[in-house]
Amino acid sequence: MRNGFLLFLMPLLAASCTQPAETSSAGLIATEDSSYYQEKYRLAYHFTPEKNWMNDPNGLVYFEDEYHLFFQYNPDGTKWGNMSWGHAVSRDLAHWEHLPLAIPMVGDTMIFSGSAVVDQHNSSGLCEGESCLVAIYTAHTDTNQSQSIAYSNDRGRTWQQYAENPVLDESMKDFRDPKVAWHEPSQQWIMTVALPTEHKVRFYASSNLLQWDLLSEFGPQGFVDGIWECPDLFPLPVSGTDEEKWVLIVSYNSDEGSDMQYFVGDFNGTTFTNNNTKDLVLTLDEGQDNYAAVTWNNAPQNQRLIIGWFNNWKYAGDIPTSTWRSAQTIVSSLQLRQYPEGIRLAMQPVPALEQLRQTPAHHENVQLREGDDFLSVENIQGTQLEIIAEFAYEAIETPTEAEQLAAEFGVKVFKGEGQETVIGYDVASQSLFVDRTQSGDTSFNDSFASRTIGLMPADSGTVKMHIFVDHSSVEVFGNDGYVTMSNRIFPNPQKDEVEIYARGGRVTLQSLDIWPLRSIWSAATSSSSVSSTP
Ligand code: FRU
Repeated sequence: MRNGFLLFLMPLLAASCTQPAETSSAGLIATEDSSYYQEKYRLAYHFTPEKNWMNDPNGLVYFEDEYHLFFQYNPDGTKWGNMSWGHAVSRDLAHWEHLPLAIPMVGDTMIFSGSAVVDQHNSSGLCEGESCLVAIYTAHTDTNQSQSIAYSNDRGRTWQQYAENPVLDESMKDFRDPKVAWHEPSQQWIMTVALPTEHKVRFYASSNLLQWDLLSEFGPQGFVDGIWECPDLFPLPVSGTDEEKWVLIVSYNSDEGSDMQYFVGDFNGTTFTNNNTKDLVLTLDEGQDNYAAVTWNNAPQNQRLIIGWFNNWKYAGDIPTSTWRSAQTIVSSLQLRQYPEGIRLAMQPVPALEQLRQTPAHHENVQLREGDDFLSVENIQGTQLEIIAEFAYEAIETPTEAEQLAAEFGVKVFKGEGQETVIGYDVASQSLFVDRTQSGDTSFNDSFASRTIGLMPADSGTVKMHIFVDHSSVEVFGNDGYVTMSNRIFPNPQKDEVEIYARGGRVTLQSLDIWPLRSIWSAATSSSSVSSTP
């Protein structure tokens, strides 16, 4: 039986062990004693391919009760190559069902990243009925990148290449990652696509997905080193106001590694205008491992749902998994919020993940001091956990030694002799950090052992850490998504204690919840057992 399920709170041991087989909302039987998806470092509730290499999420679209996740996939190996679109669907954003390869390479043309739309009224003429799915991707050869389309009349199960491909060819070597969405005010399709080496995105318009007209360009602005990839443009209300803004997300890859920035502004159907100064760089995720994240088209209730590639080009080919490589992050929803410094994106995990929770450990109002390890008596352990910890600290003007405030506090996971991953708050710099320098195997790449930091002013004196731990990953949402940090780790799974700590003084742990989370995988979800028309 898997460590993450077996060991948690000792008092809960019996409950964990007798957990009955669960029927997921996708109707799949998730037994916990299966050997499926049990390899070292295999994530239990994140999407990973059964085997081989995966990178960017592609073609995110909600259609007829299914969230589609296509992804850059090498059907023939664990390194990048032969890029094709792999495929999975979810009905609830927590459980995923593998489906057969969706769009394979055509000759020596690779199928690079792109998007998918519901062609509601058969604007393309490619639908057999009233509507169908159309994928718009980059056709990549060594000398040229152009935009091509494929279409599906059976809910994404099988795909045909459009006979007149490509639909947009500007004879450029670097011109990729089209994100297409319907623009209601101007009643046309808008394509947002990257000119990677020029640090620009371009906007094109079409009435039928087949002919495209150039509208405008944006950039260079923000972070302009390296290359720009995987743009996404969408409207989003500013929470608590009647205002709507447009957000432009751009991934960038440089010698420093892979990261993502976003711009907040206006889009009038033709041009995007950045509301901030040209040089301001707003970062979507302060961790090392969230790249090429894009949002779902047509998500219900106007939600803006996002998923990213849980990796970094700096070391993606080196990460120490053998038969499969890479994961996607959990799904989050995006909001725009008004903060003192301006309108910013906030990211929150989707509530659907709550269904994976098992019996929690709960604590309130614990006064923590350096050296306290109040949880150790309860022997809290686990490799697939959700943790919500809320800390409060209040400065006293002339504190006695006993009243001295902590300089740092937080949560340590995957802790044991010589190993820990620290999720901490540094009071002096008002920043949240994740330190993976002692997190386990860091030897596979020199740049892996690192500490990531995100400024998170806690004027009210409260710091909330919402943490997802999954065998080889840690995602942290600080102060309800003000800061997000996604990092991969490769720990020794035997060293799986959780510790709440304070350093240099006291802090109040206002509340703490720790849930073991169920696995979403079982042999029943494997592609070999999934028919193409469920
Ligand atoms: C981003 C990216 C995209 C490209 C794809 C190729 O990670 O480089 O620009 O379409 O990966 O796999």
